[in-house]
Amino acid sequence: MAAATYARISGSSANRGSGHGVPFLPLFGPMLQPRRLSRRKRSIFTEILSSSTFYLRGCVFIGARGFSRSPNSSPEYCRRAIEKSLKRLGLPYIDLYYIHPLDKVTPIEKIIQAMVEPKKNEGKIKHLGISECSAESLRRAHAVHPITAIQIEYSLLCREVESPQIRLLETARELKVAVVCYCPLGNAFLTGRYHTIEDVSGPGDSRSILPWFYPDNLKTNLVILDKITETANAKGITPSRLALAWLLAQGDDIFPIPGTTSPKSLDENLASISVDIAMEEEKLLRDLASYVVGERFQAKTGYSYGDTPLLKKD
Ligand SMILES: NC(=O)c1ccc[n+]([C@@H]2O[C@H](COP(=O)([O-])OP(=O)(O)OC[C@H]3O[C@@H](n4cnc5c(N)ncnc54)[C@H](OP(=O)(O)O)[C@@H]3O)[C@@H](O)[C@H]2O)c1
Repeated sequence: MAAATYARISGSSANRGSGHGVPFLPLFGPMLQPRRLSRRKRSIFTEILSSSTFYLRGCVFIGARGFSRSPNSSPEYCRRAIEKSLKRLGLPYIDLYYIHPLDKVTPIEKIIQAMVEPKKNEGKIKHLGISECSAESLRRAHAVHPITAIQIEYSLLCREVESPQIRLLETARELKVAVVCYCPLGNAFLTGRYHTIEDVSGPGDSRSILPWFYPDNLKTNLVILDKITETANAKGITPSRLALAWLLAQGDDIFPIPGTTSPKSLDENLASISVDIAMEEEKLLRDLASYVVGERFQAKTGYSYGDTPLLKKD
């Protein structure tokens, strides 16, 4: 079953809660790569809303806790990636297409121009998105063409987008750009399912590289998770639901994209929409989460909150 759920995008900003829409955008997790979608899933998908990202030319692991990659956001690669995505998805167009991440070589203006061409000329893209950009990149991109959404890590565990140094949430709000939040469950840490590094070290599981799970950090983080779970239990819900409800409570422009391979978890995650978070609860959760130890993993890649060189005048 595809983990895609419903959403509505209208104009240059995503509009939550209208019609049958719910505030989650579909996205492909590792199990849901476009090329692996069956025909049936594709037909479900086309009725919903397609969303895709393009990014890596190469992806190299350089040790248990290191990660190096060579993104390419050249205009030529952008054009090729769009064609490839459409082919894999078996769709005539993609509703929301993100660039991810920025390669630090191509000025953002050139990237956006390359994405706008198939949008305007051939109708192959409906809306543009950027993943892992800085506030300045978003502003520059938006000046070339309206950006519908940014995709960024945002959860109880990771609230950097709110910080005065990053200023991404503030900028997205000023420009009326929707904020799509990846890893809203802290890669499952906030579900309370995992308690040791061994729990996330199985074959094909790369989460042991995530700082929240490092043994030295885990001890502290589990104490905090226990308190979050107590708060959830007091409301008669699971910590996953509480964590998503907390995120949704941050604003109507916030769209969490929890990843799951389980229909049961999908239902549970969707049910977070009906959870009300009182102001005191929001503050309590925020305070608790401020004691979490471990930076976000993306900080290690060198491509987080990406900036690009200035466009040279010809
Ligand atoms: N743009 C980017 O740079 C970027 C980076 C990372 C991720 N993403 C995207 O963001 C989305 C979400 O990220 P993610 O999947 O890595 O992290 P996540 O949503 O924070 O956590 C997903 C994990 O939580 C588990 N889970 C989900 N709902 C649950 C529930 N109700 N109860 C118990 N366990 C539950 C899932 O397990 P099961 O699979 O067993 O259900 C999975 O292991 C994905 O679509 C991913 O592709 C984007």
